[in-house]
Amino acid sequence: MKTRLADLRADDVCQIPLSNLDVSEAKRFQDDSIWRYFERLRMEDPVHYCQASPYGPYWSVTKYRDIVAVDTNHKAFSSEQGVAIVDVPDKHWTQSFIKMGPPKHGEQRHTVSPIVAPENLIKLESLIRRRVKTILGSLPRNHDFNWVDMVSIELTTQMLATLFDFPFEDRRLLTYWSDVAVAIPKAGHAIDSWDKRSTILSECLEYFTRLWNERINAEPRMDLISMMAHSPATRQMEPSEFLGNLILLIVGGNDTTRNSITGGLLFMNQHPSELRKLRDNPELVSSAVSEIIRYQTPIAHMRRNAATDIVVGGKQSRRATRSSCGTSLVTATKRSSRAPTDSSSTARTSGSISRSDSASIAALVDILPNCS
Ligand code: HEM
Repeated sequence: MKTRLADLRADDVCQIPLSNLDVSEAKRFQDDSIWRYFERLRMEDPVHYCQASPYGPYWSVTKYRDIVAVDTNHKAFSSEQGVAIVDVPDKHWTQSFIKMGPPKHGEQRHTVSPIVAPENLIKLESLIRRRVKTILGSLPRNHDFNWVDMVSIELTTQMLATLFDFPFEDRRLLTYWSDVAVAIPKAGHAIDSWDKRSTILSECLEYFTRLWNERINAEPRMDLISMMAHSPATRQMEPSEFLGNLILLIVGGNDTTRNSITGGLLFMNQHPSELRKLRDNPELVSSAVSEIIRYQTPIAHMRRNAATDIVVGGKQSRRATRSSCGTSLVTATKRSSRAPTDSSSTARTSGSISRSDSASIAALVDILPNCS
């Protein structure tokens, strides 16, 4: 029933005047009708200007080559105004290294990146496998249950707690802070104001400051807090920058992994022949992981701001400032021209996603740069 409703809505896509097409609406991702929007944009207007959205005007770039052109042109396209479509009010703005330019970006990134280096991931492998088995083994049988909560969130948050060496019994706080951090305040919602969001996130800062103070006085260890506390690049951070980097790491680790696990399950459920193929050929698991991330799109969008007047896909994007609502977005496209419709789809891509993989991740995306 849900699918038919989504199809019906999707058909309406063709009726919408192109100039009104807005892919920033969250509900399109919720009811899975977004793909027809991207499909139409790719066919009719791959570098699309949306004049009126709840977030202000923005450009939407939906073709692979244009996306790569934007994502790899760091001089013309900047992350300094943030990587999400919403403009955070100055009072609530926190700095983090994803929004910085060189050299600070590289220095801070280098501080934490060893946590996801292959050597460290190999060390974590048996723990991850144990946890997966325990979580799956404890699921109720013959009863409905919430997979997102009991599997995707639980596994993700357990691993995040390990990466931070965060008190295990409090691990759901990480999920909570991540959800609060990405919430766009709206009347009637749990987070109904930017002030409320900031108050909750200041509790996050307070909690992590206690951990920081313990770790800065101890020997360096392989956890994200200890790594930041002992690195010359991060040990002098202002509280707001510490919070910004915490949010980056919590949200970066949380949403992506939890959405991939959930989307992967849904995909296997909708394509049982792919699941069968994987079961019969377990060596395909690593390419299946890449494929799931490409197809499922764990990140709904990434933003860039045009730092200069520039032409993308034949369209002129003017230099945009944050105050003029300039927004650049990259949103995952995945299902576009490479939808896994045939039986070889799981085997098609190889390799696995890694933190240094942002170029290949960009390959999954639609971008939406912006101008005033
Ligand atoms: C399925 C898993 C993941 C996906 C698909 C993913 C995707 C991405 C993408 C697309 C970017 C680039 C953002 C941009 O272009 O502005 C990024 C950056 C980042 N991600 Fe992930 N990520 C994943 C897992 C994680 C995990 C587990 C962590 C940490 C615990 C993490 C932390 C970060 C950080 C810190 C950055 C910023 C890097 C920088 O500024 O250089 N991510 N991720």
